Amino acid sequence: MKLGVNIDHIAVLREARKVADPDPLDALSICKRAGADQITIHLREDRRHMQDFDAENIIRLSTLPVNLECAIAPEMIEIACKHRPHRVTLVPEKREEVTTEGGLAVTGEQPKLKGAIEMLQRYEIEVSLFIDPTSEAVAASEALGVEWIEFHTGKYANIYAMLYSGLSLTPYSIPELELPRVTLKEILDKELENLKNLSSNASALGIKVAAGHGLNYHNVSNVVAIDEIEELNIGQSIIARSVYTGLEQAILDMQAKIIR
Ligand code: PXP
Repeated sequence: MKLGVNIDHIAVLREARKVADPDPLDALSICKRAGADQITIHLREDRRHMQDFDAENIIRLSTLPVNLECAIAPEMIEIACKHRPHRVTLVPEKREEVTTEGGLAVTGEQPKLKGAIEMLQRYEIEVSLFIDPTSEAVAASEALGVEWIEFHTGKYANIYAMLYSGLSLTPYSIPELELPRVTLKEILDKELENLKNLSSNASALGIKVAAGHGLNYHNVSNVVAIDEIEELNIGQSIIARSVYTGLEQAILDMQAKIIR
C-alpha cells in the first residue's frame, strides 16, 4: 500500500504565528527517508496553510512525486499547470469548513470539471477526483476520464470513532439519540463493504483508487484490507503524532500499519 503524507498541518502551525517555521519544505527529505511514496499538499483558495511559494518550492524540489490538492477554480488550475506536479487531486472547498468535509459534486459540476481535467491532462498531469464513495460518483469519474479517484473516508472514520472511542458525530452528545454499539458495528461493516465494492468496480474500469481523510493509526487497518485501494493520503494523524515522536518515526509507525 502506497503512502502519501499530507504535510499541510506543518504549514498550519507556521501560519498560526505567521512566522518562518516550521517550514514544510524541511519535511521532504524526512518523508523520503521514512519511506513515504508521495508528498500531498492542499493549496486552498483561502491560503489557510500552504502558500503559493510552498507549493512552488515543494513541487520543484521534492524527489518524491507531489500530489497537489486544489479546487476546480481557474486560478488553481492555472497554478497547477504552471508548476506541473505529478498529480492534481480536485477537491471541493468551502470557505467556512474546518477541513474538506465531503467529496466533489461530480455529477453536478461535470462541464466545469471536464474543462479543468482536460487542461491538466494536456500538461501531462495525472488527475484524481476526491469523491464520496457512491456508485454515481464512480460512474461520473469514469465518464470524465480521470486516472485516479480518491474515496473520502470521513464517514467511515466518524463511524469508527463513534464505535470505538465514544465520540459523537455531533458536538453534543444526546444519549437518547445515540446508536447501540451493535448497530454502529453494522453501519461500519456496511460502509467498509461499500468501499470495497466501489473500489473493485473502479479498478475493473481501469481507474486507480486512493483513499483518505480522517485515517489514523487505529482505523487504517480496515481500509488497508481492501486490496483494490492502492494508496492512502494521510495528514492530520501523522503530523499530530510527529509532535511527540518526530516526523520520521510517525511515518515509520504508519508504514508499519499499512504494510501488506
Ligand atoms: N486526501 C484529501 C483529498 C484531503 O483533502 C485530505 C485533507 O486535506 C486528506 C487526504 C488527508 O486527511 P487527514 O488530514 O484527515 O489525514
